[in-house]
Amino acid sequence: MLLNRQTWPQHRGWVAASLVIVLIFLVLFVIEAYLSHSWPTGSSDVGLIAGMFAGGLILFEMGIWVRKRVRTWRRLGRAKVWMIAHIWLGLIIIPISFIHSGWQWGGPLSTSLMVLLILVVGSGIFGFVVQQFVPNQMFKEVPAETIYSQIDNIVRYYRDDAIGLVQAACGTESLNLESTYSLSQEFDLAESQTYHVLSVTQSLGEIQGKVFHTKSRESFVQHSPELIDFFTDYVDPFLQPGSVASLPLADSAHANNLFEQLRRNVDPKLRPTAKQLQELCDQRRQLVRQAQLHWLLHGWLLVHLPLSVALVALLFAHAFVALRYM
Ligand code: HEM
Repeated sequence: MLLNRQTWPQHRGWVAASLVIVLIFLVLFVIEAYLSHSWPTGSSDVGLIAGMFAGGLILFEMGIWVRKRVRTWRRLGRAKVWMIAHIWLGLIIIPISFIHSGWQWGGPLSTSLMVLLILVVGSGIFGFVVQQFVPNQMFKEVPAETIYSQIDNIVRYYRDDAIGLVQAACGTESLNLESTYSLSQEFDLAESQTYHVLSVTQSLGEIQGKVFHTKSRESFVQHSPELIDFFTDYVDPFLQPGSVASLPLADSAHANNLFEQLRRNVDPKLRPTAKQLQELCDQRRQLVRQAQLHWLLHGWLLVHLPLSVALVALLFAHAFVALRYM
């Protein structure tokens, strides 16, 4: 949910309503304190009303869970409106809860309830803040962004492309690696052929896709230990699915140095191959970044959601105990 100059008009009403609600409860609190000559607690009139209101808001906040799961049920209202209400009404639950408790923490149960509430609201604020800058960061840093669940498959394609590139440049026998999707079958290296076609993934600005390169046989070097060793030591481990963020090629400055060295060391005919390998590794690095940003964008829900469920359970326990001993 973005909050910026364009979306502010959609939030404005909810922000105003939320502030007015808190203000009304504050005024009621002061009036009751004044009239009763005592500090209102949870069982005072204003305390009870504020408590029921805060509890109702917590249940309303859980409604977003239902709304997100029944997206097609339009009668529930627009998901966007639900989200805006969720954010601003969620923020006022803490002050209203403190008005309910007379600005005290209370016993162990009500203190736990309050701490849990602060954690749920805190994690919500964290998520809301993260949503303001991560999508933009993703757009800037990850032009090769793909569907998150497809990252491992795309990486396997990158690896196949890389194997194909090296085999096309140095011969299949010099790099005896299994490619996952047998893309390297495209690289028919028969002696009679004067060229062969390679498919590699490339990006141009923010656009990326498969492109086909025609490689002439002049760029063929029967055996290049420099290229093969570099491939097996650095490129192959980096073009694997899973966690590769600690590998040398994950750092772009380090990767640039390593590829620079490679280009200096290999036969000049193999420099274009080295450059194409570097492009594949650059794209793999973007997918590493995508996975990190994805975690930042969604990981906090692993705290927000379970704690919300625990909060509702504790809310019912608190209400039960409070009403029983009132
Ligand atoms: C007592 C207070 C709150 C409760 C019980 C609560 C509960 C929930 C629940 C159950 C969800 C749905 C999670 C899911 O199904 O994926 C959710 C989502 C969310 N909450 Fe809260 N929440 C509270 C307060 C807040 C506050 C104060 C904020 C922000 C200031 C916030 C921000 C969010 C956001 C941004 C999402 C949606 C994440 C997405 O994009 O899917 N929440 N909350």
